[in-house]
Amino acid sequence: MSKHIYLIGFMGSGKSYWGMRLALLLNLPFLDLDYLIETKEGMSVGSYFESQGEVIFREIERFHLRNIPDAPGSVISVGGGTPCFFNNLDWMNAHGTTIYLRADPEILIKRLANEIEKRPLLKGLNQDQLKERVFYTLVWRDPIYQRAKHIVEVSTSESDMEKALLDIIYKVK
Ligand code: S3P
Repeated sequence: MSKHIYLIGFMGSGKSYWGMRLALLLNLPFLDLDYLIETKEGMSVGSYFESQGEVIFREIERFHLRNIPDAPGSVISVGGGTPCFFNNLDWMNAHGTTIYLRADPEILIKRLANEIEKRPLLKGLNQDQLKERVFYTLVWRDPIYQRAKHIVEVSTSESDMEKALLDIIYKVK
């Protein structure tokens, strides 16, 4: 059975960017779970949060995660909250390789500062509230993310990060 490579981590950690890049390097299909949900549900994640609320979003997120076929093995970037609800992380660990893109809160805050209105969980926050939201959300999410099979530090240079990701993948193969 071919196995997936799941990239997990906080919003702004670069999951989609690195997912696409890895897929190209490895010549594998790339899937972005948020994008998959948007195409299947015919609604943006933001509108889904607004119209249905987070609880229902987490249900459909779980559903679509489990409905990705096992083959072909793909690089999959999931939402920042995906591993943190239900037993989604155990499920991903059972279906492939999970890699946590770990970034310091300062880096995430900098990257998210101009994206507040685009992110359903951050909408309406000012810069101070953004800092608080990132710090407090990481307090409970980071220990969950840490249960990924592998951890890659985001603060390293792009070439070091690419090397770290490829090292993990070639070791697993
Ligand atoms: C979320 C992260 C988002 C998206 C949704 C909820 C979260 O994905 O799934 O807005 O709970 O952290 P990205 O991490 O790809 O931005």
